[in-house]
Amino acid sequence: MKNGADTLRVACLGAGYFAQFHYDAWRRSSRVHLVGACDSDRDKAKATGLTAFGELDCMLKMAKPDLLDIITPPQTHRAAICQAIDHGVKTIICQKPFCTSFEEAQTVTEIAEAAGVTVVVHENFRFQPWYRTIRQALDTDLIGDVLQLTFRLRTGDGQGPEAYLDRQPYFQDMPKLLIHETGVHWIDTFRYLFGEPSAVYADLRKLNPVIKGEDAGYFIFDYDNGVRALFDGNRLLDHAAENCRTTLGEALVEGTRGTLSLAGDGSVHLRHFGDLEATTLLAARSWTGFGGDCVKNLIDHVICGVLDGAPLENEARDYLRVIAIERAIYESDSTGRKIREFGHA
Ligand SMILES: NC(=O)c1ccc[n+]([C@@H]2O[C@H](COP(=O)([O-])OP(=O)(O)OC[C@H]3O[C@@H](n4cnc5c(N)ncnc54)[C@H](O)[C@@H]3O)[C@@H](O)[C@H]2O)c1
Repeated sequence: MKNGADTLRVACLGAGYFAQFHYDAWRRSSRVHLVGACDSDRDKAKATGLTAFGELDCMLKMAKPDLLDIITPPQTHRAAICQAIDHGVKTIICQKPFCTSFEEAQTVTEIAEAAGVTVVVHENFRFQPWYRTIRQALDTDLIGDVLQLTFRLRTGDGQGPEAYLDRQPYFQDMPKLLIHETGVHWIDTFRYLFGEPSAVYADLRKLNPVIKGEDAGYFIFDYDNGVRALFDGNRLLDHAAENCRTTLGEALVEGTRGTLSLAGDGSVHLRHFGDLEATTLLAARSWTGFGGDCVKNLIDHVICGVLDGAPLENEARDYLRVIAIERAIYESDSTGRKIREFGHA
């Protein structure tokens, strides 16, 4: 999909809490010209310092971006993508959760495909440097036959009546929270590390009575080769980290010849089977941006895709699988059954 240009004209929709990481990341790219920011709250768009718009249509007409970065909630995705397509935008990045349902995401994917427009879902966690390090360790066979993976999400921000209000107040009212909003990152990350699961089992619960959705629970992925991947999330508990939002938790990838561990500071260690000491594969450091600068890493990945023709990860069609697995997780929780059919993607 190489477009032959040297730089990209980029416009952003949304200027709320998480958008700050997008604007900062785009600004740090020398291959991008930021041409506009739009938010229905125009003051927020103005605060970005870019040419500000209150209406997407107007921004698309005036700023003529090559790429639209959508950083608004799911109920806005379909209309925004369709408007961008109508205005001739050829590349769109869209935040997760992608659209309001599997069916809507599928329809939007088909509309974009028919128009020859590339949509990449902003699924940033697989771009965190520690998962790239773990993937490299697996690809180079550092721990032998992998038997299991565990990620323990321990954000420590879910206690009491004030939970989430300072940063993401909408968390309190979401009917589905832990998996739909946050755990979805590990549906994708587990796929990035191990491929497609063959079955999923989940057990979710709500611990904080002031919120609507679930804030704790497990899901387990089965793989055909016998590997098991466990997501164990609890937003009320924390983990050893100066900033619990760096990794949001801790991970272990265990194989017959060794164990990889991810700590809350983003460091990755390898302990060989039978040893007491571990060696460092990725050292802790203070990262710019959010979560190991994963927003910038994702953005750079898309820039290389558009300007250099590099292959893209997590285009909309591929991401439908993540939504289907998420749906299976909730189905497993509500029926108490292991789910083996995730629907077509
Ligand atoms: N990938 C990640 O790591 C990550 C982290 C946090 C949030 N998110 C996702 O990013 C999205 C935004 O989250 P947030 O925390 O910034 O939310 P937010 O509520 O702080 O900001 C959303 C912004 O969108 C604007 N908006 C809503 N509808 C609009 C419309 N139709 N046209 C123009 N502007 C509109 C609102 O005015 C608001 O400023 C959500 O889907 C959230 O799940 C992703």
